[in-house]
Amino acid sequence: MTEPTDFGVRIAGVGSALPSRVLTNADLEKMVDTSDEWILKRTGIRERRVVDPDHESEFTLARDALKNALDDASLKVGDLDLLIHASTTSEMTCPPNACRILAALGETETGAFDMIAACCGLVYAMNIADSLIRSGRFRTIGVIGCDELSRITDYEDRSLSILFGDAGAAMVLARDDDPSVGCMYQTVSSDGGRWETLYLPVQERDVPEWDRDNPIRLGCLRMSGQEVFKFAVSKFRETINDALEATGLTVDQVSQFVCHQSNLRIIDAAKQKLGLPKEKVHVNIDRIGNTSAASVGVVFDELWKAGKVKRGDHVVFVAFGGGLTWASSVWKI
Ligand code: UT7
Repeated sequence: MTEPTDFGVRIAGVGSALPSRVLTNADLEKMVDTSDEWILKRTGIRERRVVDPDHESEFTLARDALKNALDDASLKVGDLDLLIHASTTSEMTCPPNACRILAALGETETGAFDMIAACCGLVYAMNIADSLIRSGRFRTIGVIGCDELSRITDYEDRSLSILFGDAGAAMVLARDDDPSVGCMYQTVSSDGGRWETLYLPVQERDVPEWDRDNPIRLGCLRMSGQEVFKFAVSKFRETINDALEATGLTVDQVSQFVCHQSNLRIIDAAKQKLGLPKEKVHVNIDRIGNTSAASVGVVFDELWKAGKVKRGDHVVFVAFGGGLTWASSVWKI
């Protein structure tokens, strides 16, 4: 549980950015041995968005998402004390994209760093930002979750290429006079013993023994889909249960469960097991696929823009992904 402070943390602004190209199941049928019917039945996805590399990238999506969140908060980039950018697909590891994003928006002397927690990136970043603001050292922090998974997807691998899309999402978190608002409870967890179930080999030596005889494209994700699936189904349930138990909130008292859009079957399994009503679990995977670090942020942005999250509401964010990692964040908005 979050230690009490005499001020709180509010979500001052939310934004997202989607790339221009639409990649439908029909398009994928022309690229790999798959079908619209199989993809829809096994994942719930109809289409996803991917960047046009001529004018879009992880960087432009992250920059635009942050700009939209700042506009939503009626703040300028110079109002930020810190920017945390979570991504598995930054163009370069040096400089951190966070620094370039600030510079592109007109600010060059603010704290900025990149972090990687795969699909949990934004939830990890929100938890870190809330804790830093509550420490009293920072007042206003930008957090971004953004991924361009199309750049690290092998479009000849039908077990994986059908899942992923590109997107960026951002929030501006700010110190608030009301001590009751902000993150009430958070978890940041991982099990590195299971890293081989979802990994990105860069060099030959990164490929584990069991995967050596398979056709590997260096620089592209590898996933043991079923293992990740089983992990996700049980972790989703455990993580949401844990969040409810720790905070004493009931399902009725939570206005939205903002879930990582990994696979519709994974979300449906959690909904069924926990008895979560349909209207409290927003789904957009059918339109944009699994967008990794951006996923929960785009869901939240859609809810925010639709007026489905109001001040005083309780919201549970939950994600899992490569690492393996999993995380939760329970907020009073
Ligand atoms: O976001 C981070 C983490 N990632 C995830 O959460 C992903 C978790 N995993 C999944 O979502 C699912 O495991 C997948 C969507 C990746 C795969 O679905 P599945 O129901 O687990 O399929 P499967 O791997 O068990 O394969 C079942 C069959 C196999 O054929 P046989 O051996 O039964 O003849 C596959 O070869 O489906 C075949 N298959 C496909 N067929 C048509 C696998 N991919 C495809 C495809 N189109 N795209």
